[in-house]
Amino acid sequence: MKNALYFIKNIKQVGAVAPSSKFLAQKMAGVLDEEIERDPERSFNLLELGSGTGSMSRYIYEHMRDQDHLDMVEIEKPLYEQLVDRYKDASNVDVFNTDYLHFDSKAPYDIIFSSLPYEGIPNEQTEDIWQKKLDECKSGGRITYFKYLNFKSFRCDFEEHVVDNLKQRQDLVWLNLPPARLFVLELDEEKVNYSPAIA
Ligand SMILES: C[S@@+](CC[C@H](N)C(=O)[O-])C[C@H]1O[C@@H](n2cnc3c(N)ncnc32)[C@H](O)[C@@H]1O
Repeated sequence: MKNALYFIKNIKQVGAVAPSSKFLAQKMAGVLDEEIERDPERSFNLLELGSGTGSMSRYIYEHMRDQDHLDMVEIEKPLYEQLVDRYKDASNVDVFNTDYLHFDSKAPYDIIFSSLPYEGIPNEQTEDIWQKKLDECKSGGRITYFKYLNFKSFRCDFEEHVVDNLKQRQDLVWLNLPPARLFVLELDEEKVNYSPAIA
């Protein structure tokens, strides 16, 4: 209830009316399963952006093994504090209270799970976030994120350009409020430059 009120009161920054459903969270966390299946011996360095109340984090954490590491980034202090409390005993999780654009990261990451809302912010900021995500993801690594279905098209050309070029697949998740489209992107091995100039 406390979290539901928080979402409603802070809708612009949080960018959602409710935390993600377990159906969306499981699909997103499933990207980690796929990587583990591809290379079970490897350790994965993971980044979650906009962890919020932790509805997605919970599933990512459940799919992790001891050798994997997760950084969570959340801009809202009260939500960050809840996450710190929940993961205080997890030695392979670090939680950061910052705007992602100011995050001094431990890149490169194998998978970036992003819940950052782009609809309420200027396009230049969306571009900067995408550029940082691309810079911080390993070549051959994956970025997964979702957009709510009520936002039909891409507002930001750079975001659309990146999705057009790197999209591996997309899935519709109806059982979410609102329903969402989940994207899974894979970065080229040779790390092509997706700078806004070529968008
Ligand atoms: C749509 S909610 C998703 C929350 C949660 N991951 C879920 O799926 O239910 C987006 C979250 O991103 C956080 N956020 C928004 N902009 C951010 C930024 N620039 N840096 C870090 N976190 C941000 C918000 O505070 C909010 O908790």
